[in-house]
Amino acid sequence: MRSSGGGAGPADMIGALSALVAYFGDLLDRKRADPADDLLSALLAVVDEGDRLSGDELTGMALLLLVAGHETTANLIGNAVHLLCGRPELRDRMAGDPALIPALVEEVLRLESPAATSTYRVTTRPITLGDTTIPAGEQVLVSLLAVNRDPARFPDPDTLDAARDDGGHLAFGHGIHFCLGAPLARLEARIALTRLLARHPGIDLAVPPENLRRRTGLLMHGLESLPVRLSPGPAL
Ligand code: HEM
Repeated sequence: MRSSGGGAGPADMIGALSALVAYFGDLLDRKRADPADDLLSALLAVVDEGDRLSGDELTGMALLLLVAGHETTANLIGNAVHLLCGRPELRDRMAGDPALIPALVEEVLRLESPAATSTYRVTTRPITLGDTTIPAGEQVLVSLLAVNRDPARFPDPDTLDAARDDGGHLAFGHGIHFCLGAPLARLEARIALTRLLARHPGIDLAVPPENLRRRTGLLMHGLESLPVRLSPGPAL
């Protein structure tokens, strides 16, 4: 399992972004000429009070859906597999009783939130949090990793408790910008883990844990890569 972006410099990132923008521009041109039963064709066809999405808006939406939808979910699955490899007894319990997997996914979302922070907010008036007052007009970045380990909210917050019956984490944000793809992400993670454990119930790390490197960067919380050894499973 390998994730992207770890260690990339600004020039690499701008180059990759330009290539993606060009790719989506080209794909949107093709969908415009030859619409199909897919998301981009549907976005091209959107008309709201006589207004259509501009080329920049369409490219921006395609990029948002790709980045918000792919990187996050890939890291959720990676973080879950990482946790399971480090706890054979938990892995065996999940492999033996897949009905427990949805609760595990919620606990991984809380404990190892793939989106480490919210997007930027700007204060429109002074806000007092505890004994700190943030003046108006300041940028604020909320650490979802920190709020999801708030001891006032979650008893014994650093402990993975796969039976923790608490949907109150903020891994998908909160309020008007609550994640559009939360149901899809949950479904993908549940299916991926269920299938993986059904095929490879003894999946394990292929390298010593100290060789694993966390991704650097502010937004995503996960590993740069997760080499695993796939156990032989039941014949399918
Ligand atoms: C584990 C997977 C995911 C995590 C942890 C996650 C996390 C988040 C968070 C924290 C926000 C709120 C950001 C903020 O308020 O500043 C958000 C918003 C959003 N997410 Fe996700 N997301 C995931 C999967 C997806 C998927 C699969 C899609 C789409 C296919 C998606 C699309 C979006 C979009 C479009 C927004 C912006 C919503 C808005 O501003 O109204 N996300 N996500």
